[in-house]
Amino acid sequence: MPVPAGYSRTQIALHWVVVLLILAQFLFHEPMAEAWDVVEDGGAAVTSAGVLLHIIGGIAVLVFALWRLALRMTRGVPALPANDPPLQRLAAHLGHWGLYALMVAVPLSGMAAWGGGIKAAGEAHEVLKTLLLLLVLVHVAAALWHQFWLKDGLIDRMKRPG
Ligand code: HEM
Ligand code: HEM
Repeated sequence: MPVPAGYSRTQIALHWVVVLLILAQFLFHEPMAEAWDVVEDGGAAVTSAGVLLHIIGGIAVLVFALWRLALRMTRGVPALPANDPPLQRLAAHLGHWGLYALMVAVPLSGMAAWGGGIKAAGEAHEVLKTLLLLLVLVHVAAALWHQFWLKDGLIDRMKRPG
């Protein structure tokens, strides 16, 4: 796998578009949660505009995550900051892979719930989206720690193509 000096313009754009999409999924989940309550009570699955937005936003996260993984394998990503101790590099590595896994698993579980009417998938979706939220919070804390404590300018790597 190649190891470029920085993230490409496309990799950076995809990172920030997905951040906005995931934020929107968490802020505007109410119509989907309500529609799902109806399904769980034995009613029909009604795809209102709000439900459709949740589906489109979620599937976009999935497509963009797969695109990012493909870019990771073809173009590669920059090496983790060289000054970080091995344990910290391992944590960053696991954290990034965890985020990718959840960006795939959260939409897939939602699709299985809504498309297949599988109640267990709905429960899995709830657990997985909470894990995603927690991991994102750790990821953001790590990015801010690098930026303001270690002062290694890490966030610039996700701003300026290299
Ligand atoms: C990264 C993408 C996604 C995120 C972050 C996300 C997030 C959420 C959140 C925060 C809820 C509310 C859960 C609650 O009431 O506590 C929810 C519910 C739901 N979402 Fe998603 N969602 C995503 C993708 C999808 C997709 C693609 C589908 C279907 C095509 C879907 C279907 C559902 C369903 C059926 C529910 C109600 C069941 C439940 O509460 O787990 N979601 N989602
Ligand atoms: C929904 C929220 C987010 C998700 C899902 C997410 C996901 C990811 C993933 C998967 C990577 C690894 C990219 C790769 O090497 O393949 C990454 C890198 C990065 N993210 Fe995020 N991110 C989120 C929010 C943020 C925010 C809010 C910040 C800034 C405060 C941020 C800053 C960074 C930085 C600086 C890197 C590069 C790390 C490095 O060069 O080693 N991310 N992000």
